[in-house]
Amino acid sequence: MLNDIDRILITQEEIAARVRELGREITATYDQSDPNLTLVPILSGSVIFLADVMRQLPIRMKIGLVTVSSYQGATTEGVAPQMPTISDLDIAGQDVLVIDDILDTGRTLRLVTSRIRELQPRSVRTCVLLRKPSRAPSDFTADFIGFDVEDSFVVGYGLDYDGHYRNYPNIGVLRPELYES
Ligand code: IMP
Ligand code: MG
Repeated sequence: MLNDIDRILITQEEIAARVRELGREITATYDQSDPNLTLVPILSGSVIFLADVMRQLPIRMKIGLVTVSSYQGATTEGVAPQMPTISDLDIAGQDVLVIDDILDTGRTLRLVTSRIRELQPRSVRTCVLLRKPSRAPSDFTADFIGFDVEDSFVVGYGLDYDGHYRNYPNIGVLRPELYES
């Protein structure tokens, strides 16, 4: 696995430091006297980020899972994200914080947040570890963003290529010959 990484963009130490800062930003945003927070991580890419960031939030909370997949294996061009199954989320009146690994074209977060709003939460915010500013739409962004990254296909810390590399602890760029055919 390590031989497949061309270069490291963000080290695990840099990620850990930024996740602690994000924890403080998020904590300051919610009313501590009336906590009603539900984290909604988008599986599978957000699992490691979720596990780290939620431990930086000293707030009463629940978790509700959503699965969406838009990338299919090798391609870096997303296909339309599949409709998530969110009907069993019990979030009416809750403050919902959607967590994803990366904001790329924004289609995934747009879709998930619009479906979540139908369930009448008290508020909906979004938090991503990474954003590709060159690809993200001008009229949609996340409320909390860990890092802006260049427009390369990145893996590690939950992000995958064809299901692999999620366990790589840094954010890295794959060797191009592995996905350019
Ligand atoms: P969007 O819908 O275009 O914003 O794409 C977001 C989803 O695509 C993320 O949840 C990721 O799963 C996936 N994705 C986008 N860019 C990358 C990347 O560079 N590496 C791995 N997954 C990515
Ligand atoms: Mg994903």
